[in-house]
Amino acid sequence: MTRKEAQKRAAELSTELRDCQRAYFVESRPLVSDAEYDRLFDELAAIEARYPDLALPDSPTRRVGSDLTQELPEAAHEIPVLSLDKSYTAEELSSWIAKTARNAGRELSFVCEEKIDGASMVLYYEEGLLARAVTRGNGLVGNDVTANVKTIGAVPLRLPRPVTVAARGEVFLARSLFDSINAKMEEPYANPRNLASGSLRRVKSSEVASIPLSIFVYEGYFKDAAATHHETLEELEDLGFRMNTRIGFFSDGPSRTKVKDRHPGWRTGSLGDLVDFIESERRERKNLDYEIDGIVVKVDELSVRESLGYTGHHPRWAIAFKFESPEGATTVRAIETQVGRTGRVTPVARVEPVRISGATISNVTLHNQEYIDMLELAIGDKVAVSRRGDVIPAVERVLEKNEAGAATWQLPATCPVCGTRLLKQGAHHFCPNEACPDQVRGRLSFFVGRGQMDIEGIGPETIEVLVENGLVRDVEDLYSFDPEKLLEIPGFGGKKVTQIREGIEKSRSQPFHVVFPSLGIPDIGQKVTEILIEAGYRDIDSLLEVAGKGDPAPLLEIHGIGERTAETLIRELARPRMRRRIEKLRKAGLQLSEGEPPAGSADLPRIFAGQTWCVTGSFEQFNPREKAMEEVQRRGGRAGASVTSKTTHLLVGANPGSKLEKAQKVGATIVTEREFLALLAKS
Ligand code: IVH
Repeated sequence: MTRKEAQKRAAELSTELRDCQRAYFVESRPLVSDAEYDRLFDELAAIEARYPDLALPDSPTRRVGSDLTQELPEAAHEIPVLSLDKSYTAEELSSWIAKTARNAGRELSFVCEEKIDGASMVLYYEEGLLARAVTRGNGLVGNDVTANVKTIGAVPLRLPRPVTVAARGEVFLARSLFDSINAKMEEPYANPRNLASGSLRRVKSSEVASIPLSIFVYEGYFKDAAATHHETLEELEDLGFRMNTRIGFFSDGPSRTKVKDRHPGWRTGSLGDLVDFIESERRERKNLDYEIDGIVVKVDELSVRESLGYTGHHPRWAIAFKFESPEGATTVRAIETQVGRTGRVTPVARVEPVRISGATISNVTLHNQEYIDMLELAIGDKVAVSRRGDVIPAVERVLEKNEAGAATWQLPATCPVCGTRLLKQGAHHFCPNEACPDQVRGRLSFFVGRGQMDIEGIGPETIEVLVENGLVRDVEDLYSFDPEKLLEIPGFGGKKVTQIREGIEKSRSQPFHVVFPSLGIPDIGQKVTEILIEAGYRDIDSLLEVAGKGDPAPLLEIHGIGERTAETLIRELARPRMRRRIEKLRKAGLQLSEGEPPAGSADLPRIFAGQTWCVTGSFEQFNPREKAMEEVQRRGGRAGASVTSKTTHLLVGANPGSKLEKAQKVGATIVTEREFLALLAKS
């Protein structure tokens, strides 16, 4: 193909692909099959690869995003990006409507739009080409996220006419897509909005392309403005933007009939019908595939908008009617950092105490710097904090920026506890100093804790004393320090010291499947340990051996072990400090290999793998009842002598003891002898 032919073909393909993209993303009406689309796309990409100068900035191939890392530069807005005034009751709203008409000195029409709960975006087009996409930021300056926004199929890269316009809209992620994507996220997002705005800030736009974001555009700022908002919406639709169709138009004047004819899909009525529209939206809200948090009521006549004017915060010609949600408004007083046992540094917001669905919230985790950047959160900002059901409270969004002009909060460059320079890994920052006092304390608490070695008598206060007094520098020292030394410390009597000594002694007999996850290697919990043991890694030496070779391949062959887990395991077990710890624990007599599986289990299906059983009462078929527990072990399960938080199943015979009540409390499954026999028979 000559260059000339290529140019012609590229133009044809571009037009065709553009039509396809528009039909698919904006109108939800695919023109061609996926395969045909891919064929056209690949053909154009091939031409552009051969003749790079033919690859125009608005080429349909540009939507896939690139892997080049890019910063998110700041960009000044050309229009003030204001927020909205709010109302919560029909009375407030009605009095706002009356007041607005009074101030305007004439009858008004109002457009009602759904208030999409997404990420606010301004799309700047110059002579028909998408020049910049900028986040709201502080209303004057936002972040330039153009490359990422280009991956959104519903955003036209080129308009059918060479117009210069700023289009305001909301980027969102459909609920159904959110659910399936969030399940795979490293750090699950609280809601579709956070995932949408989080991914808009990804540095690699190829990652953004994998999140199927969409947009509804709801305001247009044209050089030659129309006379009314509803005509602006028509114009935007005509330019190929994706518009929300759930719109209400209410007026006591004649424009109502005209709008009704032009937009049969809209709800139209007199001003008296406006509140009904809001009520019907409130009812329908749960059935929509996108989240809305209210209705925006806007004056239709644009000349009136100008005369009504603006406050510094919002226009006087629009108001949001907010649906209630389990949220509270509060102010961020400070942001502090916590260093966890793995060295992960977590920023936590200290907020003015606020009551939300029955609990008083004063600390809210902010997860990591990316989350803070996504919120554009600064100290002093007024924020919405949510608490859905029992979940951990989350900062949902900034409601009002602080007046002191504080900028988005930044993690310090060094560890707030030990001063070591922080490292970034994925979304999180880590303190790489394993001797960092907070890491040591965290590791110790984890090691002695309930789900792990379960050492009675050692709680957070004892750990504090042990570390403060230099008696213990890390977990391995628990088995070599002299508990008698504690007697010299006020508050420690003979009884307490005996309890500690006995607790430590008892922990020496904890099985390998408890010892290994207690080491606190990130991602390596009981489940992974179980999988490793089943795959034949039944002792620490076999694991140290793979780690020593530095090749994750043998671990990746195991079903249930992913790349990340395999790599973490190898990296962490290869660390000199970890090796020293393991050797000391070995010397201390800890169980570093799993006991042999009970005889006769070789051919049996492992139906009880991952389960911990306990038994109570007497049985017809199993006498003594331990015989039943042998059946459990032969099929991969664990047997415990008493009911603990780890017990998953309780086998109940005649005249059960107190274990039954306890098992019910910890939520274990209660199994009768008949049910148990049926399980064995099935296997
Ligand atoms: S109009 C000056 N219309 O709500 C006009 N905003 O709390 C201001 N939003 O920042 C915006 N859906 O991000 C408008 N149909 C809609 C909207 C909408 C969602 C967001 C927007 C704004 C926020 C105000």
